[in-house]
Amino acid sequence: MKKVLIIGSKGMLGMELVEIFSIDDYEIHRADLPEIDITDSESIQSKFSEIKPDIVINAAAFTDVDGCEKQIELCHKVNGEALEYLAKECNKIGATLTHYSTDYVFDGGKEEGYTEDDQTNPQSQYGKSKELGEKNLQKYGEKYYIIRLSWLFGQHGNNFVETMLKLGQEKDKLEVVNDQFGKPTYAKDLAERTKELLESGQVHGIYHITNEGVTSWYDFTREIFKLAGVKISVEPVTTDKFPRPAKRPHYSGLINTKLPKSRPWQEALRDYLDSK
Ligand SMILES: NC(=O)c1ccc[n+]([C@@H]2O[C@H](COP(=O)([O-])OP(=O)(O)OC[C@H]3O[C@@H](n4cnc5c(N)ncnc54)[C@H](OP(=O)(O)O)[C@@H]3O)[C@@H](O)[C@H]2O)c1
Repeated sequence: MKKVLIIGSKGMLGMELVEIFSIDDYEIHRADLPEIDITDSESIQSKFSEIKPDIVINAAAFTDVDGCEKQIELCHKVNGEALEYLAKECNKIGATLTHYSTDYVFDGGKEEGYTEDDQTNPQSQYGKSKELGEKNLQKYGEKYYIIRLSWLFGQHGNNFVETMLKLGQEKDKLEVVNDQFGKPTYAKDLAERTKELLESGQVHGIYHITNEGVTSWYDFTREIFKLAGVKISVEPVTTDKFPRPAKRPHYSGLINTKLPKSRPWQEALRDYLDSK
């Protein structure tokens, strides 16, 4: 039975990974703050020598995109530097390391979207820190997968769908940004695709896993309310109406050229809302 260590196991994706890997014959170990701190190499070392995992999945991250603009050092430590420690410790025990990255490593200027090999050019501290994580894993890692995803939603934790549903109960009119485009990703689907990737024995490297279809936050919102049966007026606005500390890419559709495609985001969203 393979031992899998899921780090960031209390997060939105981490919790789905725990559920998906529990279905089959894996010996699951979970870790999150405070019992492991990935910015501390000794903490990683001690967890790895206690468990000796065959597979390590790192779903831990500093995910507050605007918060990263203020807490630059911590964000770079968690999302960037930690990948050197994780990679080196995985090499010592021969474990495969799976790590998650983001569409925010791209600048968003390429209207046709981004393939796995496109040049990165992050515009925010979050994006820069995640790019550093990718580079560290490519530099130090031996057996690794980097999975880029975008616009994550799911059962566990705060996310855009939950925020909109809450606002839908409180307001009768909403303004939503209509000039940022991306691919929503259902955490449950991503966890399943992660397991398939690990079991497929694909070559190590960068993969893009999202649900299929590009949308704007505005159209995403309209679909959420339509499927949830919420009657509310939604107005499209431009990004400059809601200034935020971190710059977001205008167009960051991740193109998957290496793996079977996931289902359309609308179908995944329907499933998610039905499961609530
Ligand atoms: N959410 C999105 O829309 C999105 C989009 C693109 C890519 N991603 C990437 O997808 C992955 C999963 O994201 P998510 O939204 O599931 O994350 P999440 O819900 O924020 O969970 C991250 C987990 O990591 C933990 N953590 C933070 N710092 C840590 C440290 N130093 N050591 C150990 N654990 C630590 C957090 O604990 P605390 O809560 O106590 O801090 C939390 O439990 C991340 O790599 C993220 O960058 C997410």
